[in-house]
Formats: sequence, structure tokens, C-alpha cells
Amino acid sequence: MSSTTQKTVLTGDRPTGPLHLGHYAGSLKARLELQGSVEQYLLIADAQALTDNAGDPAKVTSNVVEVALDYLAIGIDPDLTTLAVQSQIPELAELTSVLMNYVTVSRLERNPTIKEEIRQRGFERDIPAGFLTYPVSQAADITAFRATLVPVGEDQLPMIEQTNELVRRFNSTVGAQVLVECAAMLSTVTRLPGTDGKAKMSKSLGNAIALGASADEIRQAVRSMYTDAQHLRVSDPGRVEGNVVFAFLDAFEPDAEKVAQLKAHYQRGGLADSAVKSVLEDRLQGLLAPIRVQRQRLAADRGTVLRILCQGTEHARERAASTMGAVKRALGLSYFA
Ligand code: TRP
Repeated sequence: MSSTTQKTVLTGDRPTGPLHLGHYAGSLKARLELQGSVEQYLLIADAQALTDNAGDPAKVTSNVVEVALDYLAIGIDPDLTTLAVQSQIPELAELTSVLMNYVTVSRLERNPTIKEEIRQRGFERDIPAGFLTYPVSQAADITAFRATLVPVGEDQLPMIEQTNELVRRFNSTVGAQVLVECAAMLSTVTRLPGTDGKAKMSKSLGNAIALGASADEIRQAVRSMYTDAQHLRVSDPGRVEGNVVFAFLDAFEPDAEKVAQLKAHYQRGGLADSAVKSVLEDRLQGLLAPIRVQRQRLAADRGTVLRILCQGTEHARERAASTMGAVKRALGLSYFA
């Protein structure tokens, strides 16, 4: 593939805590699969994380390296994927301020992702202006890297839509195709439930299994997983829908035939929760053990991790700066050139 037709993929994570299995099923796995076949950027979105953690910057800054460790431990290879730290690329903030003029407050307030997040965080009208406008900053991230493909969960789809609206408004204003539209890439497992059966796995809800979890933590988490409250005796028929253990097997057991058989047996009756949990636990222990080992090894070599981040950020900054240059020229903001 020539470099002009090659796809450019960008995704990011807010560094507010170590990453967990929800991230793995929702997007990390897709990033690993894409690695090597596309030009891939991973953005550690610390500036975006500050939009709802402004009072606790240490929570954000202390997790930048943690997220980098998670990426590297799962097999993200800095030679194939560029790792970048958002706040260290001033062109992203510059592009955000330009794009901000091409969106209205009412459009931002209608963004379903923002609406839902405002509700979850209990912001109501006391929403930080930076939080309301983070879709614009995300659009700047995407367009600065001229990303054509953005692997996201379903909850982030409105962000892609809003990005493309901004791209079209900007391009039609300047009368040139300066910014590039992108497409969302939905993963097959878009949303992993929490271990408690709540709709979403999240560290703040305490229902997550971290990628660096110890063998004991994994065992405990699987044992305490929500199954089917009506499945009282082993011989009773059990429900697979809404059963967290099966949702996890769907996400992490590659042998689909085996999962189908377990489901059928469970639905018929005669299969104990503990038996299904033990299959899942084996699978998760097998998946996470090498990640944990690699993560611990890298954590002991912080200098190397920082060097990888610094080099990646430098490379990413060059690309963002070239887009920002084109944006300024298109607007006529180039007096001294
Ligand atoms: N909003 C994303 C999240 O909450 C993180 C993110 C920041 C991102 N910039 C991005 C995702 C650009 C995709 C593309 O996880």
C-alpha cells in the first residue's frame, strides 16, 4: 500500500486510571489487530481528562505512564504505533480554538455522549466550559493527525459525527479540502458489562478488572460476578442474557463453539455457575498473566517508557504541526510567511 492510500488510525484514552478489560474488549484488541497494517496513533488524552478532573490534576498526570504501561504490556509496539501525550502537542490546543468557532453551544449541548456524561457526573448547568467543548478538542485530535479511521465504542459515535460536521463546515468556509473526514470503526464487543452486571465496566464503579490485576484479584472478580439471580439450583435452567459470565466468555473465549455449548447446557439446566466461572477464570488468567509480567518488567524501567512517550509525541507533533500550518494558511492567518 502506498503511503497516500494507507489508512491513518487514531484513538485515545483519558488517563484517569489504569486500563481494564472493558478497554481491552472495546478497543485495545482492535488496535493490536490493526498494528502494522495501518499508520496508527495512540493519544494519551491528558488535556481532555482535565476537562472533568480540573480540581485533581495529579489524578491525571500520575496515570499517563500507567496507561502507557498498559499499552506496551498488551503488545503495542512503539516501532509500529506512535504513542503521544496530548498536552505536549500545543498544535492540538491551537486547532481546538480554531474549530471552536465552527460549532454552536446548542449543538454541543445536543451531543448525546456529552448529555449522558453530564448526567452521570451530576454536572447539570455547572458543567465546566472545557468539558462541554471536549468534542471539539477530540475533533482537533482526529483531524490534526488526518485520521481516516477511529476505532471507538458505540458511546463515542456522536463524537465522530460531530467531527465530520466540523470538517465539512471548515472546508466549505475555506473552499478547500484541508481537513479530512473520518469513519468510525466499531469493535464487535462494544461494551463489556461490569462484574456486577451494571451496563459499563468502570474503575470508578468498582466493577472493573484491571489489565494489571493479580491472579487473586482475577479469581475474586470472577467468583463474585453477577450471573442469573433465578439460577438457584444447578439443575435449574439458567439465563444467558444479562449473565455477566457469558458476556465475558463471548468477549474473551476465542472458541465460539465451546461458548455455544456451555450456553446451551446452562439454559437446559445442569451446569453450575461455578463450572462456567471456572472456564472463564482459566481464560482470563491465561490472557492476563503475560500482560501482568510484561507490565511489571516495564514499570521497573520508567526511563525507557518516558523515552518512548517523548519520541512518539515528537513524531505526532510534526504531523499535527503540518495540519495546523495548512489550516492557518487556508484561513489567511499567515502574515509573516
Ligand atoms: N474520548 C476518548 C475517551 O473517552 C479519548 C479520546 C481523546 C479519543 N481523543 C481521542 C478517542 C481521539 C478517539 C480519538 O476514551
